[in-house]
Amino acid sequence: MIKQAIIPLAGLGTRLLPLTSVFAKELLPINGKPGIQYILDECIDAGVKEIIFIISEKKEMIKKYFNNDKFYKSIIKKKKDPRIINEYRKILKYKKMIKFVYQNKPLGTGDAVLKTKKYIKNNFFLMLLPDDLIIKKNCSKSMIQVHKRYNSSVMASMKVNKKNVSRWGIYKINKRLNKNNFLINGVIEKPSIKEAPSNKAVIGRYILPKSIFSRLIKLKPGKGGEIHITDAIQSLINEKHKFIAHNFSGNYLDCGSMQGYIKSNLEIAKL
Ligand code: UTP
Repeated sequence: MIKQAIIPLAGLGTRLLPLTSVFAKELLPINGKPGIQYILDECIDAGVKEIIFIISEKKEMIKKYFNNDKFYKSIIKKKKDPRIINEYRKILKYKKMIKFVYQNKPLGTGDAVLKTKKYIKNNFFLMLLPDDLIIKKNCSKSMIQVHKRYNSSVMASMKVNKKNVSRWGIYKINKRLNKNNFLINGVIEKPSIKEAPSNKAVIGRYILPKSIFSRLIKLKPGKGGEIHITDAIQSLINEKHKFIAHNFSGNYLDCGSMQGYIKSNLEIAKL
Protein backbone atom coordinates (compact mmCIF):
# COMPACT_ATOMS: atom_id res chain seq x y z
CA MET A 1 0.00 0.00 0.00
CA ILE A 2 1.43 3.38 -0.97
CA LYS A 3 -0.15 5.89 1.39
CA GLN A 4 2.65 8.43 1.82
CA ALA A 5 4.41 10.65 -0.72
CA ILE A 6 7.40 12.92 -0.28
CA ILE A 7 8.17 15.98 -2.39
CA PRO A 8 11.64 17.61 -2.26
CA LEU A 9 11.26 21.39 -2.62
CA ALA A 10 14.43 22.64 -0.97
CA GLY A 11 16.55 23.18 -4.11
CA LEU A 12 17.78 26.60 -5.22
CA GLY A 13 16.06 26.69 -8.62
CA THR A 14 19.03 28.40 -10.23
CA ARG A 15 17.81 27.66 -13.76
CA LEU A 16 14.85 29.96 -13.16
CA LEU A 17 16.87 32.90 -11.83
CA PRO A 18 16.28 35.79 -11.35
CA LEU A 19 12.66 34.82 -10.50
CA THR A 20 13.80 32.26 -7.92
CA SER A 21 15.92 34.81 -6.06
CA VAL A 22 12.66 35.96 -4.42
CA PHE A 23 10.04 33.36 -5.36
CA ALA A 24 9.57 29.59 -4.92
CA LYS A 25 9.41 28.11 -8.44
CA GLU A 26 6.87 25.49 -7.32
CA LEU A 27 4.31 28.25 -6.72
CA LEU A 28 4.74 29.76 -10.18
CA PRO A 29 1.43 29.43 -12.02
CA ILE A 30 1.11 27.04 -14.91
CA ASN A 31 -2.00 28.04 -16.79
CA GLY A 32 -3.27 29.84 -13.67
CA LYS A 33 -2.55 27.12 -11.10
CA PRO A 34 0.63 26.76 -9.01
CA GLY A 35 2.81 23.98 -10.42
CA ILE A 36 2.84 22.15 -7.08
CA GLN A 37 -0.95 21.71 -7.22
CA TYR A 38 -0.65 19.51 -10.33
CA ILE A 39 1.73 17.30 -8.35
CA LEU A 40 -0.59 17.23 -5.30
CA ASP A 41 -3.59 16.34 -7.47
CA GLU A 42 -1.61 13.51 -9.06
CA CYS A 43 -0.73 11.94 -5.68
CA ILE A 44 -4.18 12.39 -4.18
CA ASP A 45 -5.82 10.87 -7.25
CA ALA A 46 -3.38 7.94 -6.93
CA GLY A 47 -4.65 7.24 -3.39
CA VAL A 48 -1.93 8.91 -1.30
CA LYS A 49 -3.17 10.10 2.12
CA GLU A 50 -0.17 11.97 3.51
CA ILE A 51 2.34 14.18 1.70
CA ILE A 52 5.64 15.33 3.18
CA PHE A 53 7.10 18.55 1.77
CA ILE A 54 10.84 19.01 2.22
CA ILE A 55 11.38 22.77 2.22
CA SER A 56 14.07 25.16 3.44
CA GLU A 57 13.91 28.37 5.48
CA LYS A 58 14.36 30.24 2.18
CA LYS A 59 11.18 28.62 0.88
CA GLU A 60 8.88 29.36 3.83
CA MET A 61 6.46 30.96 1.35
CA ILE A 62 5.38 27.45 0.32
CA LYS A 63 4.28 26.74 3.91
CA LYS A 64 2.59 30.12 4.11
CA TYR A 65 0.65 29.43 0.91
CA PHE A 66 -1.10 26.53 2.64
CA ASN A 67 -1.42 28.15 6.08
CA ASN A 68 -3.03 31.52 5.46
CA ASP A 69 -6.41 30.80 7.06
CA LYS A 70 -6.77 34.07 8.98
CA PHE A 71 -6.24 36.06 5.81
CA TYR A 72 -8.68 33.98 3.73
CA LYS A 73 -11.36 34.05 6.42
CA SER A 74 -11.21 37.85 6.65
CA ILE A 75 -11.37 38.27 2.85
CA ILE A 76 -14.19 35.75 2.42
CA LYS A 77 -16.19 37.53 5.15
CA LYS A 78 -16.00 40.78 3.20
CA LYS A 79 -16.13 39.46 -0.35
CA LYS A 80 -18.32 36.49 -1.11
CA ASP A 81 -16.41 35.71 -4.30
CA PRO A 82 -17.19 32.05 -5.21
CA ARG A 83 -13.85 31.66 -7.00
CA ILE A 84 -11.87 32.62 -3.87
CA ILE A 85 -14.08 30.41 -1.68
CA ASN A 86 -13.50 27.48 -4.02
CA GLU A 87 -9.72 28.00 -4.10
CA TYR A 88 -9.60 28.29 -0.31
CA ARG A 89 -11.51 25.00 0.00
CA LYS A 90 -8.87 23.30 -2.16
CA ILE A 91 -6.08 24.76 -0.03
CA LEU A 92 -7.79 23.47 3.13
CA LYS A 93 -8.01 19.99 1.60
CA TYR A 94 -4.29 19.99 0.71
CA LYS A 95 -3.29 21.48 4.06
CA LYS A 96 -4.84 18.59 6.00
CA MET A 97 -2.60 16.17 4.14
CA ILE A 98 0.74 18.04 4.14
CA LYS A 99 3.53 17.81 6.70
CA PHE A 100 6.62 20.04 6.42
CA VAL A 101 10.22 19.03 7.12
CA TYR A 102 13.34 21.14 6.58
CA GLN A 103 16.54 20.74 4.60
CA ASN A 104 18.29 24.07 5.05
CA LYS A 105 21.39 23.20 3.03
CA PRO A 106 20.71 21.89 -0.48
CA LEU A 107 23.11 18.94 -0.30
CA GLY A 108 21.23 16.94 -2.94
CA THR A 109 18.01 14.97 -3.49
CA GLY A 110 19.32 12.03 -1.44
CA ASP A 111 19.94 14.28 1.55
CA ALA A 112 16.45 15.78 1.11
CA VAL A 113 14.89 12.29 1.21
CA LEU A 114 16.85 11.46 4.37
CA LYS A 115 15.07 14.30 6.20
CA THR A 116 11.80 12.34 6.01
CA LYS A 117 13.21 9.18 7.62
CA LYS A 118 11.32 9.33 10.89
CA TYR A 119 7.96 10.03 9.24
CA ILE A 120 7.80 7.10 6.80
CA LYS A 121 5.48 4.41 8.17
CA ASN A 122 5.14 1.68 5.53
CA ASN A 123 7.73 -0.37 3.64
CA PHE A 124 7.35 1.69 0.46
CA PHE A 125 6.61 5.34 -0.29
CA LEU A 126 6.25 7.54 -3.33
CA MET A 127 8.59 10.40 -4.22
CA LEU A 128 7.72 13.06 -6.79
CA LEU A 129 10.05 15.75 -8.12
CA PRO A 130 7.92 18.83 -8.71
CA ASP A 131 9.83 20.08 -11.79
CA ASP A 132 8.66 17.01 -13.68
CA LEU A 133 5.02 17.31 -14.70
CA ILE A 134 3.40 14.37 -16.40
CA ILE A 135 0.08 15.14 -18.04
CA LYS A 136 -2.73 13.18 -19.72
CA LYS A 137 -2.20 10.02 -17.63
CA ASN A 138 -1.60 9.70 -13.88
CA CYS A 139 1.96 8.36 -13.76
CA SER A 140 1.93 7.75 -9.97
CA LYS A 141 -1.23 5.66 -10.30
CA SER A 142 0.28 3.47 -13.04
CA MET A 143 3.48 3.04 -11.00
CA ILE A 144 1.50 1.97 -7.93
CA GLN A 145 -0.16 -0.72 -10.06
CA VAL A 146 3.27 -1.95 -11.20
CA HIS A 147 4.49 -1.93 -7.59
CA LYS A 148 1.49 -4.01 -6.50
CA ARG A 149 1.97 -6.52 -9.30
CA TYR A 150 5.71 -7.11 -8.78
CA ASN A 151 6.08 -6.07 -5.12
CA SER A 152 9.10 -4.04 -6.13
CA SER A 153 10.50 -0.52 -6.23
CA VAL A 154 9.59 1.43 -9.36
CA MET A 155 10.97 4.46 -11.21
CA ALA A 156 9.35 6.40 -14.02
CA SER A 157 11.35 6.25 -17.21
CA MET A 158 11.52 7.56 -20.75
CA LYS A 159 13.89 7.55 -23.72
CA VAL A 160 15.91 10.73 -24.14
CA ASN A 161 18.13 12.05 -26.89
CA LYS A 162 21.62 10.49 -26.60
CA LYS A 163 23.14 13.97 -26.77
CA ASN A 164 21.34 14.95 -23.55
CA VAL A 165 22.07 11.94 -21.30
CA SER A 166 24.24 14.05 -18.98
CA ARG A 167 21.14 15.91 -17.74
CA TRP A 168 19.59 12.77 -16.25
CA GLY A 169 19.98 9.62 -14.21
CA ILE A 170 20.50 6.93 -16.90
CA TYR A 171 19.77 3.25 -16.27
CA LYS A 172 20.77 -0.13 -17.64
CA ILE A 173 18.21 -2.83 -18.39
CA ASN A 174 18.63 -6.29 -16.96
CA LYS A 175 15.41 -7.90 -18.25
CA ARG A 176 12.26 -6.85 -20.10
CA LEU A 177 9.21 -7.85 -18.02
CA ASN A 178 6.62 -6.68 -20.54
CA LYS A 179 5.99 -3.82 -22.98
CA ASN A 180 6.46 -0.98 -20.48
CA ASN A 181 8.32 -2.48 -17.52
CA PHE A 182 12.00 -3.36 -17.25
CA LEU A 183 14.04 -4.82 -14.44
CA ILE A 184 17.17 -2.68 -14.12
CA ASN A 185 20.65 -3.52 -12.96
CA GLY A 186 22.28 -0.14 -12.76
CA VAL A 187 21.73 3.60 -12.71
CA ILE A 188 24.27 6.40 -13.19
CA GLU A 189 23.63 10.02 -12.28
CA LYS A 190 24.32 12.49 -15.11
CA PRO A 191 26.79 10.33 -17.09
CA SER A 192 28.83 11.59 -20.02
CA ILE A 193 27.74 10.27 -23.45
CA LYS A 194 30.62 7.76 -23.22
CA GLU A 195 29.72 6.56 -19.70
CA ALA A 196 25.95 6.28 -20.34
CA PRO A 197 24.77 2.64 -20.37
CA SER A 198 21.71 3.56 -22.51
CA ASN A 199 19.56 6.53 -23.49
CA LYS A 200 16.84 5.63 -20.96
CA ALA A 201 16.39 8.22 -18.25
CA VAL A 202 14.83 8.19 -14.81
CA ILE A 203 12.09 10.83 -14.49
CA GLY A 204 10.95 12.39 -11.19
CA ARG A 205 8.62 9.68 -9.88
CA TYR A 206 9.89 6.90 -7.64
CA ILE A 207 8.38 4.21 -5.42
CA LEU A 208 11.16 3.67 -2.92
CA PRO A 209 11.66 1.14 -0.13
CA LYS A 210 12.09 2.27 3.46
CA SER A 211 15.45 0.47 3.41
CA ILE A 212 16.81 3.29 1.23
CA PHE A 213 17.36 5.39 4.39
CA SER A 214 20.08 3.13 5.77
CA ARG A 215 21.88 3.39 2.39
CA LEU A 216 21.49 7.19 2.27
CA ILE A 217 23.07 7.58 5.71
CA LYS A 218 26.22 5.86 4.44
CA LEU A 219 26.44 7.70 1.09
CA LYS A 220 29.27 10.06 0.29
CA PRO A 221 28.63 13.02 -2.05
CA GLY A 222 28.66 12.00 -5.72
CA LYS A 223 28.51 14.01 -9.00
CA GLY A 224 28.70 17.76 -8.41
CA GLY A 225 29.37 17.16 -4.69
CA GLU A 226 25.69 16.29 -4.04
CA ILE A 227 24.10 13.27 -2.37
CA HIS A 228 21.99 11.71 -5.12
CA ILE A 229 18.99 9.44 -4.69
CA THR A 230 20.20 7.47 -7.74
CA ASP A 231 23.44 6.55 -5.90
CA ALA A 232 21.39 5.10 -3.02
CA ILE A 233 19.28 3.19 -5.58
CA GLN A 234 22.47 1.76 -7.13
CA SER A 235 23.60 0.63 -3.69
CA LEU A 236 20.27 -1.22 -3.17
CA ILE A 237 20.53 -2.82 -6.64
CA ASN A 238 24.03 -4.06 -5.72
CA GLU A 239 22.39 -5.85 -2.79
CA LYS A 240 19.87 -7.53 -5.16
CA HIS A 241 16.95 -5.22 -4.40
CA LYS A 242 14.46 -5.29 -7.29
CA PHE A 243 13.96 -1.99 -9.18
CA ILE A 244 11.62 -1.66 -12.15
CA ALA A 245 11.77 1.13 -14.73
CA HIS A 246 8.24 1.93 -15.90
CA ASN A 247 7.82 3.63 -19.28
CA PHE A 248 4.92 5.93 -18.50
CA SER A 249 2.36 6.78 -21.13
CA GLY A 250 1.57 10.40 -20.18
CA ASN A 251 3.33 13.44 -21.65
CA TYR A 252 6.40 14.74 -19.85
CA LEU A 253 6.87 18.48 -19.23
CA ASP A 254 10.02 19.94 -17.67
CA CYS A 255 9.13 22.96 -15.54
CA GLY A 256 12.60 23.44 -14.06
CA SER A 257 14.06 25.46 -16.94
CA MET A 258 12.67 28.70 -18.38
CA GLN A 259 12.10 27.25 -21.84
CA GLY A 260 10.44 24.17 -20.35
CA TYR A 261 8.31 26.28 -18.01
CA ILE A 262 6.97 28.37 -20.91
CA LYS A 263 6.29 25.23 -22.96
CA SER A 264 4.45 23.62 -20.00
CA ASN A 265 2.10 26.61 -19.85
CA LEU A 266 1.33 26.32 -23.56
CA GLU A 267 0.80 22.53 -23.44
CA ILE A 268 -1.44 22.62 -20.36
CA ALA A 269 -3.49 25.46 -21.84
CA LYS A 270 -4.34 23.15 -24.76
CA LEU A 271 -5.83 20.42 -22.50
P1 UTP B 1 17.15 19.99 -9.16
O1 UTP B 1 18.59 20.01 -8.85
O2 UTP B 1 16.72 19.46 -10.48
O3 UTP B 1 16.50 21.42 -9.04
O4 UTP B 1 16.41 19.17 -8.03
P2 UTP B 1 16.89 22.72 -8.23
O5 UTP B 1 18.08 22.52 -7.38
O6 UTP B 1 15.67 23.19 -7.54
O7 UTP B 1 17.12 23.74 -9.40
P3 UTP B 1 18.35 24.16 -10.31
O8 UTP B 1 18.93 22.89 -10.87
O9 UTP B 1 19.31 24.91 -9.45
O10 UTP B 1 17.71 25.01 -11.35
C1 UTP B 1 15.26 18.38 -8.25
C2 UTP B 1 14.29 18.57 -7.11
O11 UTP B 1 14.89 18.25 -5.87
C3 UTP B 1 14.80 19.33 -4.95
C4 UTP B 1 14.55 20.57 -5.80
O12 UTP B 1 13.79 21.52 -5.03
C5 UTP B 1 13.78 20.01 -6.98
O13 UTP B 1 12.41 19.95 -6.70
N1 UTP B 1 16.05 19.38 -4.17
C6 UTP B 1 17.26 19.41 -4.81
C7 UTP B 1 16.00 19.42 -2.80
O14 UTP B 1 14.90 19.40 -2.19
N2 UTP B 1 17.16 19.48 -2.10
C8 UTP B 1 18.37 19.47 -2.70
O15 UTP B 1 19.39 19.51 -1.99
C9 UTP B 1 18.42 19.45 -4.10
